[in-house]
Amino acid sequence: MPVTYILGIESSCDETAAAVVRSGEQLISNVVASQIATHQPFGGVVPELASREHLRAIVPVVRKALADAGRSYESIDALAVTQGPGLAGALLVGISYAKALAFALEKPLIAVNHLEGHIHAVLLEERQKGNRDLRFPVLALVVSGGHTHLYLAEQRGESWSYENIGHTRDDAAGEAFDKVAKLLGLGYPGGPLVDRLSAHGDPRAVKFPPSQLKHPDRKSSHPLKITKGGAAIRNEGALENVRPRFDFSYSGIKTAVLRYVETHDLKASIEARRKALAEITGPKLEDYLGNCDQPTLDLIASFQRSLVDDLVSKTLAAAREYEVATLLVTGGVAANNELRQTFEQEAARQGLPVYFPSRPLSTDNAAMIAAAAYPKFLNGEFAAMDFSAEAGMALK
Ligand code: KG4
Ligand code: ZN
Repeated sequence: MPVTYILGIESSCDETAAAVVRSGEQLISNVVASQIATHQPFGGVVPELASREHLRAIVPVVRKALADAGRSYESIDALAVTQGPGLAGALLVGISYAKALAFALEKPLIAVNHLEGHIHAVLLEERQKGNRDLRFPVLALVVSGGHTHLYLAEQRGESWSYENIGHTRDDAAGEAFDKVAKLLGLGYPGGPLVDRLSAHGDPRAVKFPPSQLKHPDRKSSHPLKITKGGAAIRNEGALENVRPRFDFSYSGIKTAVLRYVETHDLKASIEARRKALAEITGPKLEDYLGNCDQPTLDLIASFQRSLVDDLVSKTLAAAREYEVATLLVTGGVAANNELRQTFEQEAARQGLPVYFPSRPLSTDNAAMIAAAAYPKFLNGEFAAMDFSAEAGMALK
């Protein structure tokens, strides 16, 4: 098979990214321009600002990805860009630029689902390490700021397909990390902060009730029935069609943290922390620690432990139910230390191999987009020039 260089472009949320990947298995360059500083004062991503920052960054980021790879625009075999899901205005910046480049260079353009990209980040790095022996069935947990989704992944020839067997009914896991951090006056994005601060607290100090799925999933076309184990089963009557679902819910734990704050009179100390941290440019771990008392650190650690336990136990229950041979855990929250350790321990107990991307490829990047595009390149699955952004794009 001839060597193929794909230039990937990603702009679905608050990172402008470009990367060059060789034949779906070798990361040649990877450039990510983060917009954290822009959104930080607002405590979350502001869509209009995100689009504006993408417009500013896209040309230099792509240029740097090519320069780092030592490649010219002409020497690229194809371009790949995120079509969705994500912020419509942000996606359009990447798509418009990728279309213009593809047209000018007369190169094929491949449209990629962002969630498929997260899954292929793991596969890219495993191939790069020489591990080509992927055993099916494969279960992938994509856990990020916008998604907590479980997919069964299948490969036929060069074609990949995905079946969703679980998703969050309300907040995504990363969203819960971000909202709880904001609630506690820590700032944005919350995941990495909670991750680092949790190591300094007692995870058994505060007990949170297990997350409950009381209602059938309104988004599903089939009514659901909840089993004792917490799995939601499609209530279709015909038993042979019953496929258990493993849905998540994280708005309850966020509310539980809020209630804890109210009942333990933490509001004044949170306000003081918010003010103190706002006065420090680029606060470091010691600054956060210096502004958190022990009960707050215990609360943070307990929140993280509860969320991680829920993610790991549901995912491993799904892995048992579907008798999968490989587990992939990916997306921004896959960077979390406790999540990785717990998955490694518990999956090993179940005799299940589990793979994560390296931390730089766990959060949003364009290498994953270029990697996911490679099988589509081999299949000749190129995008028509009139395709557009799909903010709510599903992975199938
Ligand atoms: O995949 P990603 O970069 O963007 C989306 O597709 O959403 O994920 C971003 C999310 C944010 O919610 C962020 O707080 C969370 O991933 N995150 C983490 C960690 N690093 C990033 N959550 C927990 N622990 C981390 N170390
Ligand atoms: Zn993502």
